[in-house]
Amino acid sequence: MKQVNKNIFAFIFFITLLLNYSDLFAETNAGYDLNYVMKISLIVTVLFIAILMWLAIIYSEKNDVNGEILKSPLKSFMKWLTRSVPLEKEEDIMFHHDFDGIRELDNRIPPWFNFLFYGTIFFSIIYMIVFHVVGDGNVQDNEYKLEVQQAAFEREMLIRSGAFINEETVTFVNDVATISEGKEVFSKNCVACHANDGGGGVGPNLTDDYWIHGGGIKNIFKVIKYGVPAKGMISWQTQLDPSKMQAVASYIITLHGTKPASPKKPEGNFWKEETTTN
Ligand code: HEC
Repeated sequence: MKQVNKNIFAFIFFITLLLNYSDLFAETNAGYDLNYVMKISLIVTVLFIAILMWLAIIYSEKNDVNGEILKSPLKSFMKWLTRSVPLEKEEDIMFHHDFDGIRELDNRIPPWFNFLFYGTIFFSIIYMIVFHVVGDGNVQDNEYKLEVQQAAFEREMLIRSGAFINEETVTFVNDVATISEGKEVFSKNCVACHANDGGGGVGPNLTDDYWIHGGGIKNIFKVIKYGVPAKGMISWQTQLDPSKMQAVASYIITLHGTKPASPKKPEGNFWKEETTTN
């Protein structure tokens, strides 16, 4: 194998390796599955090394009259990679100086070392292009922004799922969808004790100005959530998610002042809403 051929091989080897890995950086940046990219990269690398070894062996074989090298592919590969001079020929490359009996061999720089050296230079170019020319170099900054974006998205989802709705944060939601959802929850779960129109039965009248546990969306939500087990009002937090409890509480607010068919007499204390919306 001629020297030129060898260098070309080495060059192709490293170009492929580096393109392969620069690909990896580019793709992870774009948010592809890292695992997948790693696997592909590994397969390509291993394949390439295998092909390279195979070629090296074929080329060595040509110069190998006795078939010695072919017997040991690894040996031939190592030889190709280190370009070391065999022991019996060391005399030829011995320097002519002598330091107290210590002599020096004029070995050439092994190819593997050069591969690494030129490889790092090549890698730096690819790296620069990927991160500073194509990308803006703010790798951490971008990661941070992505994470913040992701967190904001998750928060939005949590808000929509009602995870943040509790007796402190609950608000009266007066839109058609919420009120009709609340009405549905009410007719499914509550009418047995509070009557169809909220006029009361086993449970108190929910349409008047008198509340045992206080009126207003927050108190109503709290009673629905925790219940008053001792008095026959169960806790609903295991059966209704927070947004449903908010909906039914909002629905109860809208019942205020309506005229039930057979209203139960007022129980509890007079409750005056401070603002009409809360
Ligand atoms: C098994 C009967 C029963 C069911 C079903 C029931 N409640 Fe009650 N509820 C009661 C009783 C009894 C009380 C009164 C508790 C007390 O005296 O402290 C009450 C009280 C309440 C209060 C507080 C009233 C006040 O004056 O402070 C609200 C609000 C309420 N219920 C809403 C609901 C909602 C909403 C549902 C359906 C999701 C529901 N209840 C289902 C029996 C029931």
